[in-house]
Amino acid sequence: MQVILATVVSLSYFAHSHAAPHEKRSSNYISSCGTTWMARDDVSSNNGELPRRGYLTAVAEFCEQANGHIVPAGDYLSLATRVFLDGGGDPSTNGIPGYVYFEVHNKQSSASHTVDVNNCTSYLQELSNNNSECWGSEHSDTKGGTWQVGSDAISYHALGESVPPAQDAVDKLYTNGALSTLGGSGTVALSPFPLTFTSDVIPLPCHSHNDYTRDIPLYDALSTGCMSVEADVWLHSGNLRVAHTDPGNSGPTIQDLYINPLLALLDAQNPNGGNRNGVYPQSSSQSLVLLIDFKSDGTTTWDAVYTALQPLRDAGYLSYWYGSEFVSRPITIVASGNAPLAQATNTTANPHHDIFMDSRVNESLDGYDTSNTYYASADFESAITSSGSAPLSSPNQQKLTDQLIAGHAKGFLVRYWDIPSTDLWQELVDAGVDRLNVDDLNAVAGIDFHLSS
Ligand SMILES: *[C@@H]1O[C@H](CO)[C@@H](O)[C@H](O)[C@H]1NC(C)=O
Ligand SMILES: *[C@@H]1O[C@H](CO)[C@@H](O)[C@H](O)[C@H]1NC(C)=O
Ligand SMILES: *[C@@H]1O[C@H](CO)[C@@H](O)[C@H](O)[C@H]1NC(C)=O
Ligand SMILES: *[C@@H]1O[C@H](CO)[C@@H](O)[C@H](O)[C@H]1NC(C)=O
Repeated sequence: MQVILATVVSLSYFAHSHAAPHEKRSSNYISSCGTTWMARDDVSSNNGELPRRGYLTAVAEFCEQANGHIVPAGDYLSLATRVFLDGGGDPSTNGIPGYVYFEVHNKQSSASHTVDVNNCTSYLQELSNNNSECWGSEHSDTKGGTWQVGSDAISYHALGESVPPAQDAVDKLYTNGALSTLGGSGTVALSPFPLTFTSDVIPLPCHSHNDYTRDIPLYDALSTGCMSVEADVWLHSGNLRVAHTDPGNSGPTIQDLYINPLLALLDAQNPNGGNRNGVYPQSSSQSLVLLIDFKSDGTTTWDAVYTALQPLRDAGYLSYWYGSEFVSRPITIVASGNAPLAQATNTTANPHHDIFMDSRVNESLDGYDTSNTYYASADFESAITSSGSAPLSSPNQQKLTDQLIAGHAKGFLVRYWDIPSTDLWQELVDAGVDRLNVDDLNAVAGIDFHLSS
């Protein structure tokens, strides 16, 4: 069994590790900038439909809570809170919800430091003021950084992070040592997987394509709010390894990256043993699709996938077909790639009817129906066009319309992968494509999903 260990990075180490240190001065000054861009002001993304919290609001929250607190010599006072990470782009159309870590570090040997709300606010605002070195003039954002009070006596840190703190300290003052981040990056699962981070996330009809290639599989997609994630699996000696190209019998398994984190997350959403609350508390009946793309032999992989899903099945978290109806539960499993339709309809291979197929929307849908199929998908470049220019030509619009009509007539959700350009995203959403296949999660913020209509 593969065990993935979290890398815990101390915030203070982090703050001092990048950007060249400046000369020590006796007056207050910025000693370094961080590495992650945060929106400075509150903004709205997705055509104004989703409110996003900017750095200045987060500063106000921290300084109000910290006001009057005494930080003993050598000690820390910290708080992590929500902020919109704009990825260096326009925060109204680009970015992902993350956190900003604030920390006051009293480096003096004996004197204590009392936090004052006005001073705290003005120190931290310096990091986002126009023409400050940590401010971005193009999108009015900030990389945060470190403000030194006096002659390196006290540091005020503010750093953007995509993941919550290891100390379960979101929106709570933390006084026992430096705040540190949860581990996980470069296709590593977070450990421990955070269980409350989706509380304010609004689900969006996006599909996180090749999700396991994210900095943090599953977690990044759920932070964005995607209703669908995708894992490619390879069967080796009974293990389902997750990777784009054959990894052999090594690397993370579907349990490591998806099954175990989902089970923990759903158990936390259903504290009294129920099975109805999904991963997004803001829309708890929303099912999350786990699309499993079979890269190895269809029949043997099917049996291994069926077995791997047993913990989710036992907890009652899987959607299933019952008699003549689809019963929605927090997770809907869709099998793609080499997965055979014959196994979906085979009552020995799929006895609980809880693995559904991904059909081809540009081909015959004979044999596929809502009892065995959930998605109708295609490679956009083969099924419509390889041109990324928007708008689509009218013959291509017609092809899209015909395929949407065919997929919807069957009761399937329609999705395209290999969309040649993000320029086409809005047009596809407007035309009625049900799940927008995304490789760049930050760009999801630029789409109008017509949430309020
Ligand atoms: C605020 O900062 C100024 C100078 O940096 C200092 O003189 C003053 O004592 C501070 N105020 C409080 C209440 O800490
Ligand atoms: C700061 O810069 C922004 C542009 O990024 C501008 O809109 C704003 O007026 C400036 N504020 C001040 C106080 O100069
Ligand atoms: C049904 O699936 C089982 C389990 O994989 C397999 O042994 C059996 O051959 C399948 N039946 C048919 C008719 O394909
Ligand atoms: C449908 O799309 C698939 C890729 O998704 C492609 O391989 C196939 O050739 C297309 N079929 C037709 C009839 O265009």
